[in-house]
Amino acid sequence: MSEPKGRGAAWTEERGTSDEGRRRLESGPEASEHKKLVVLVSGEGSNLQALIDACREEAYGAQVVAVGADRGTINALARAERSGLPSFVLRLADYPAREDWDAALARTCAGYQPDLIVLAGFMKLVGKPFLAAFGGHCVNTHPALLPSFPGPHAVRDALAHGVKVTGCTVFLVDDGVDAGPIVAQASVPVADDDDEATLHERIKVAERVLLVGTVGRMVRDGWSVRGRKVRIGS
Ligand code: GRF
Repeated sequence: MSEPKGRGAAWTEERGTSDEGRRRLESGPEASEHKKLVVLVSGEGSNLQALIDACREEAYGAQVVAVGADRGTINALARAERSGLPSFVLRLADYPAREDWDAALARTCAGYQPDLIVLAGFMKLVGKPFLAAFGGHCVNTHPALLPSFPGPHAVRDALAHGVKVTGCTVFLVDDGVDAGPIVAQASVPVADDDDEATLHERIKVAERVLLVGTVGRMVRDGWSVRGRKVRIGS
């Protein structure tokens, strides 16, 4: 596997864990029973924040062990830092080929031994090396009712189509674009005077609740997949 362009040995930019974060990660037998989440982000990080907040509750059953990003100066990383969580940044542009970036992402995530990877506003497609490591154990959240309006402009596309109801979807990541088996969905009505920003904000309120609830149920109860059908619990 080749090293990324121009970064030498320091190919991942990993940030340390604060004392508070280290204490949380190493604090006693009950914490070690919690399932480990690695959360990947690209922007604001409100979904990440909702997960971090949920993980403060003992009964939630999970802990965020690391936050990864594909870009450096984003609010999501500041949120991770404020919560004392380790983070890493892997920029696609620092790698000779997409597959190298993807493999580095898989390696770095694997280092945290996650039970589940959560793509929370992560604006990159993952590829073969990543899916070979984490396929079936990686969920994404999307601001539309899939299979309608996949892709990066879901809210704009739904508005342009004139739908009266849209929403959000948590799904298992596969090699398609927002195409994997659906785990959970929530609906959001479209108002006559909505623009992309107002509608997306309302969807994000529902999305945070859906993501936190779904991830919690998955880590506590397990899940199975038959064809396209995902079932949480036994
Ligand atoms: C979410 O609506 C997500 O579905 C979309 O981008 C938004 C990310 O929000 N891909 P945040 O960064 O979690 O606030």
